[in-house]
Amino acid sequence: MELYSTKAHNQANSKLIGDEPVWIFGYGSLIYKVDFPFIECRTGYIKGWERKFWMQSQDHRGTPEKPGRVLTIHQVNDAECFGMAYLIDPVVLKDIDHREQNGYLRQSLDVFTHCGEKLNAITYIGDPDAPVYQPESNNQKLAEQIYKSIGPSGPNTDYLFNMADALRQYNENDSHIFDIEQHVKDIQALK
Ligand code: SIN
Repeated sequence: MELYSTKAHNQANSKLIGDEPVWIFGYGSLIYKVDFPFIECRTGYIKGWERKFWMQSQDHRGTPEKPGRVLTIHQVNDAECFGMAYLIDPVVLKDIDHREQNGYLRQSLDVFTHCGEKLNAITYIGDPDAPVYQPESNNQKLAEQIYKSIGPSGPNTDYLFNMADALRQYNENDSHIFDIEQHVKDIQALK
């Protein structure tokens, strides 16, 4: 099976972006794994979106043959999703397009920062038409897949635990993440 990639599609959008710094918003690993240079950052949230482990990961936390699970967001009325906004030089988008190539498309969203600003930020959202977009409502099944998956970026459990720790660090609740974290810890305790 081949790696599914949205990189070329996202890079085609770069032609519309000038030389000025741009804001990006991260709601998943972009909160806790910041391996790119940025000028400023702010915590904040987006309105009407909810975080879910609905992407299969073929390149970071799994392989094309045995994919892991990573986060995307989907639209839900009245939901709010916490994350981190970073002001970056637009040349950095190339590296982030590479990192988020496995099914994510850039979309511009309004971010409400905790210091009271409204920013327009590029957000990488799983493309519902991508073969790696696979909604799953059973958290136990997601936990079992995360428990056994590993990819070039490391064990899938690291992605989950780092995400849960980052949310706790910012006093954020996310029942989807914390429930799956508990299921994985229960599986580990049985082994
Ligand atoms: C994000 O963090 O905003 C995108 C999903 C991920 O890379 O985990």
